[in-house]
Amino acid sequence: MPVSAEEAARRVDELRARLRDALYRYHVLSDPDISDAEYDELFRELETLERDYPDLRTDDSPTQTVGAVQAGAFAPVRHRVPMLSLDNAFSTEELAAWGRRTERIVGDVPAYVCELKIDGVAVSLQYERGRLVRAATRGDGRVGDDITPNVRTIANVPQRLALDDPPPAFEVRGEIYFPASGFEALNQQMTDEAKQVYANPRNAASGSLRQKDPKVTGSRQLAMLCHSFGLAEGMRFASHSAFLGFCERAGLPVAGQTAIVSTLEEVEAFVAHWAEHRHDLEYEIDGVVVKVDASGLQEELGRTSKAPRWAIAYKYPPEERTTLLKDIQVSIGRTGVATPFAMLEPVLVAGSTVALATLHNQDEVARRDVRPGDTVFVRKAGDVIPEVVGPVLTKRPKRLRRWKFPKACPECGTPLVRPEGESATRCPNTTGCPAQRWGTLVHFAGRGAMDIEHLGEKTVAALIEAGKLHDAADIYRITADDLAALGGYKDRSIANLLGAIEASKQRPLDRLLVGLGIRHVGGTVATLLANRLKSLEAIAAASEEELAGVGGVGPTIAASVAAWFADDGNQDLVRRLVEGGVNTKADGDTGVELPQTLAGMSFVLTGGLDGFTRDEATRAIEDRGGRVASSVSKKTAYVVVGTDPGSKAARATELGVPILDEPAFAALLEQEAAADPEAGVGDE
Ligand code: IVH
Repeated sequence: MPVSAEEAARRVDELRARLRDALYRYHVLSDPDISDAEYDELFRELETLERDYPDLRTDDSPTQTVGAVQAGAFAPVRHRVPMLSLDNAFSTEELAAWGRRTERIVGDVPAYVCELKIDGVAVSLQYERGRLVRAATRGDGRVGDDITPNVRTIANVPQRLALDDPPPAFEVRGEIYFPASGFEALNQQMTDEAKQVYANPRNAASGSLRQKDPKVTGSRQLAMLCHSFGLAEGMRFASHSAFLGFCERAGLPVAGQTAIVSTLEEVEAFVAHWAEHRHDLEYEIDGVVVKVDASGLQEELGRTSKAPRWAIAYKYPPEERTTLLKDIQVSIGRTGVATPFAMLEPVLVAGSTVALATLHNQDEVARRDVRPGDTVFVRKAGDVIPEVVGPVLTKRPKRLRRWKFPKACPECGTPLVRPEGESATRCPNTTGCPAQRWGTLVHFAGRGAMDIEHLGEKTVAALIEAGKLHDAADIYRITADDLAALGGYKDRSIANLLGAIEASKQRPLDRLLVGLGIRHVGGTVATLLANRLKSLEAIAAASEEELAGVGGVGPTIAASVAAWFADDGNQDLVRRLVEGGVNTKADGDTGVELPQTLAGMSFVLTGGLDGFTRDEATRAIEDRGGRVASSVSKKTAYVVVGTDPGSKAARATELGVPILDEPAFAALLEQEAAADPEAGVGDE
């Protein structure tokens, strides 16, 4: 906080310059260098200073103006009615304060319209006698850029209004957005063409609208939603909802999620609902817009130079931030895969502090070209794991070197390998690499496998360190003395752990198979193998052809299993596990195949599941006679919805297809008799 007037003046200048530059980069270059949240923070700081030091106020301050300066590449279009912005509320208290102020001025407000605040590009469309004659960006609110040829390529923007008697002049405004479903594909295409990827769908929409060649715009799946109007000659809408109804009749697209409510409590409920569900939508939203419905009241409330007083934007907590990328390191997983990850200056994103973020693999680091020392955009959308989106190039220090994937395993020094055609780089030292050993043993003892209680990550690490654990068979040789020597283990915990190890010897064969960590062998495949071949010895002795003949086990899995058992080291491990007393026989006859409980049913999977990879979920369905499809139709039996589902979940609701969450899906897989979608499994 500045202490003197001079300091305040200096800071105000600095903030204005920074905000103007940010606006230019956002609106004109489609390449922002600060996140929206950081913009909002600087903006608020400037507003506060201008309030505390009224002498410093100017009409051209970014707090008093709207949008950006002209880019120059497009012809200017003067808006006959200025395109305003909206005031923001960042908390329910601020929203309530706006509501109270509004009701103080006009008395009771019978209806508020709640709309989603679409994070797109603001555009104005001019219709003359029902024909689209001009499309323009907002620009500085008074003059925007003429982008008519580009907007004409957008499928849901009507060239003519569907009205028998269209008004002489009508200007509708809305947001053009890039649908979430097409965004990844666009960035993949940008990568293939060696072009810079877009940081988010909004920038993609903005960049796509600013193409010189409308054909390029036309190749992108842009869409528009209308939310307001400028000049409307010969018409008067009694309310905002009447305007929306007019749009629908005219064939102009409007958002489907609008609610008309009568109390501020209901407004808050709408805000809370969409905070939860914002990722179910095809477009990104950054908040909710609340509007006083009645035109008469709107007129009474009026506007400031920048925004109407009859509307407010409630902004959701930011999902994107910038922070310093301190370093990139590589971690080695159980199967030897080397995964690069970002070490970040901790930053609060979408309500949690992010200090680490995966960078997936070598190609992804190259694609994003992020370098230690860069300022990077970090994004955490919904329940999705945090992601480094890309560098802020304007903030890149000079001569920052491109990051190179290490040549050797950081854990054991073995040269890393990347087989041709694969995205993963691996440490080939499967038996000697301590990271792989640790991961393998933690997996073996884990819940989905031998489920050895008390043998967690730390104990495994300590036993490896003490030289007592080299592979899974060593677990069955651990003594009380070994554990006592680790220090910190009391008699009781030693007895508990030894008891758990003893109990694990009786686990069913399929659990042991999962524990061995053979590539492609998850729970379902393990069950199929155990049921058909009955013992570990028989599986080990089976040929690749015999393995591939087991229902649900294809050639890839068969090859992987056969290769694993052909390895001398693995054979030795199996022998020592048997010596250690581990059960290697299938219990009873559970049938050769899984019961075909899902025969003839079609499933669609969307979002991430905790207990299954996408492949495992698919296999689990197919092994039971079901089928997995990529899109939802009326014929879909169930849509399985995990965390951060895509638009498919919404589509299912639209079509009335039953939705299963993960527990309901797991329950369906477990059930013995054929399932009946009509019975409403997972309705809870
Ligand atoms: S009403 C006079 N409704 O958000 C007010 N704006 O941050 C006109 N926006 O300038 C805008 N969704 O470009 C309105 N449902 C919605 C909106 C919306 C997104 C944009 C619009 C506005 C900006 C303010």
